[in-house]
Amino acid sequence: MHAGSPDISLLFEPKSVAVVGASPNRGKIGYKIIENILEDGYKGRLYPVNPKGGEVLGHEIYTSLSAIPDDIDMAVLTIPEKQVFPAVQECAARGVKYLPIITSGFSEVGNIEGERQIVTYAREHGMRVLGPNIFGLYSSRVSLNATFGPRGIKHGKVAILTQSGALGIAMVGKTAVENIGLSAILSMGNKSDIDEADVLEYLVRQDETRIILMYVEGVQKGEKFVQALKAATKVKPVVVIKSGRSKRGAVAAASHTGSLAGADEVFDAIMRQCGVMRAESLKDAFNWCKFLAESPLPEGDNGVIVTNGGGIGVMATDACEKHNVPLYDDAKTLKEIFSPVTPAFGSTKNPVDITGQATGEDYTTALSAGLTRTDLHTVMALYCETALFTPESLTAMIRENSRRYREAGKPILFSIIGGKAIEDSISVLRKEGIPVFDDVYDAVSCMGTLYRYRRHVREPLEADAVADIDLKRVEQAIASARADNRTFLLPLEAHQVARAVGIPMPKSGVARSLDEAVRMAEGIGYPVVMKIVSKDIIHKSDAGGVALDLDDKSEVIDAYQAILHNARRYNAKARIDGVEVSEMIKRSTETIVAARRDAAFGPVVMFGLGGIYVEVMKDVAFRAFPLTLHEARTMVKETRSYPLLLGVRGEKRKDIDGVVDAIVKMGTLISLCPDITDIELNPVVVYEHGQGVKALDVRILLGTSKR
Ligand code: ACO
Repeated sequence: MHAGSPDISLLFEPKSVAVVGASPNRGKIGYKIIENILEDGYKGRLYPVNPKGGEVLGHEIYTSLSAIPDDIDMAVLTIPEKQVFPAVQECAARGVKYLPIITSGFSEVGNIEGERQIVTYAREHGMRVLGPNIFGLYSSRVSLNATFGPRGIKHGKVAILTQSGALGIAMVGKTAVENIGLSAILSMGNKSDIDEADVLEYLVRQDETRIILMYVEGVQKGEKFVQALKAATKVKPVVVIKSGRSKRGAVAAASHTGSLAGADEVFDAIMRQCGVMRAESLKDAFNWCKFLAESPLPEGDNGVIVTNGGGIGVMATDACEKHNVPLYDDAKTLKEIFSPVTPAFGSTKNPVDITGQATGEDYTTALSAGLTRTDLHTVMALYCETALFTPESLTAMIRENSRRYREAGKPILFSIIGGKAIEDSISVLRKEGIPVFDDVYDAVSCMGTLYRYRRHVREPLEADAVADIDLKRVEQAIASARADNRTFLLPLEAHQVARAVGIPMPKSGVARSLDEAVRMAEGIGYPVVMKIVSKDIIHKSDAGGVALDLDDKSEVIDAYQAILHNARRYNAKARIDGVEVSEMIKRSTETIVAARRDAAFGPVVMFGLGGIYVEVMKDVAFRAFPLTLHEARTMVKETRSYPLLLGVRGEKRKDIDGVVDAIVKMGTLISLCPDITDIELNPVVVYEHGQGVKALDVRILLGTSKR
């Protein structure tokens, strides 16, 4: 039982910190942490603890926590694994609130019980655990560097959460080189208790933090994580560095959805759904963080590229397409703004080419024109080295224009390419926090990320979509499978579930006599399809047990008799349960709509084109459920073959709303029925707009044990 959670602010703003395992021995982590806390100027009260007593860096070492004459908000434990639990008990007795545990040797090496014991005890006594197996934490609010990583961390606007300790320490080093200031850095370690979602809750409302960077390897409480990310990204940007592309989950999967839902594809899709920017590399992640932490958001979609070289202008334009940077294309207005600074042999079209003869003054004139225009929203200034600039004048021009744009609240960045002098200029300017890049693609990728974030925050808030389903009928079908000890539903049971959820299915019934077959066919309307119903005949067509396209009563009578005759000849011992009579389905675009319970994220929905060919096409999109209608539509649009749904070669637009409706229904079903692990409608035939969809087949898998 949890004894309530202490205020998360105390993790970042403790007034007093004990270091249990503090050591005067310079080679010990327990020394290094004390040194970092002191050197980086912690604003609270520090209490080193070690039964041997003595002194470390001029501070008295207390022989036990009970000897400390003060309240203790946080105790950093850096003692051997066997000592940790007794120390946690002592911490509880002293009313400690947060326990960053540096010590390794827990679940990461299979010591799950040891870890569980600590967390359970801590939670029962109102404490929370960070880690174990961490390098510590840093918080700029109280200048607390309780890590054994680098010292002298610069205060700033970027918060880093990292699951990898070694990478975390390396990132601290890299931020120093890049002159990126940090508001916090947390090593998450084994995430036995505190996870990213808990920390995001604080970082979102902490003013210093402008952007959050996370390195995530695995997600355990995915549903909580998704909620926290969705809330966080509406307030500040979140960048995630991708973890490995694991295919293990897919190998073990038993359904189409499972085999297509590789852990990485699902993670990637869900990050997009949450508005998180996923970086492919550390370089991108740092570039984005540095730029987004300082840049205002663009006021609108009119971006302009100003260049002195056609080549890099074209490269930047290509990159803009890739990164969705909108470019201003009103030729008349661009001419009006830029013709005073563009020679006749240049171009005032976007990219604006002020040509190789452009001087620093020309750049400043062009950039000034952009600065004052309210219809021009972002600028990317590109420069290829020419002899018309001295390195000093280039550096000064960039510094000056960057300042003016910052004051005006308008995003600008620079990409300059050339020799040693240019490289030196870049390094000087980057140290000053000015967004200058040696590669056009890096620059455009930053602008693209800024626009992506702008689009995300401007999306209207929308409630999650849920469907109304007849749970009782669903449970009946599941009960009948359970009674039979099956972990899959038979077609008739699966159809019952799909109908209970409101999925349009072909009209059908099972006839047990010729009269009944005729009555059903007349009720459904011609043409109809007839199929043998027998558990003992799997390959119905091979057995001559299927008749298609039956147009009238006499064809139904003939087919009924032929099907029964063929079935008996095929397998005389087969138990025959009747003949299924169903509506003959018109062909149209075939899709798949599915939902499954993901090990990390819980209910996940999938949409794909290709229907029965989905595994060949691999054209699928995923989302975590619940989701908004907007997210469901975006998911459909994300597939490569989406244009097929819009109608090609004179075809009419297909019923996309019907697809979205089916997605929401599948998600609702899987989130309300914990027994179901996978449900797949395949193919789902999508008709013209207004005419809906029809699922031709339904497959439902259950978990091995009843929940
Ligand atoms: N209370 C207070 N002090 C104690 C206690 C206790 N209950 N028990 C021991 N101590 C003292 C010891 O007396 C010792 O002090 P001394 O230097 O004066 O002798 C000090 O605590 C440390 O104890 P040691 O037995 O010397 O342990 P050591 O420092 O060698 O190791 C450590 C402890 C660092 C926690 C180790 O067990 C460990 O887990 N190392 C891995 C840490 C790690 O890598 N974490 C993940 C980081 S992320 C990444 O990958 C980079």
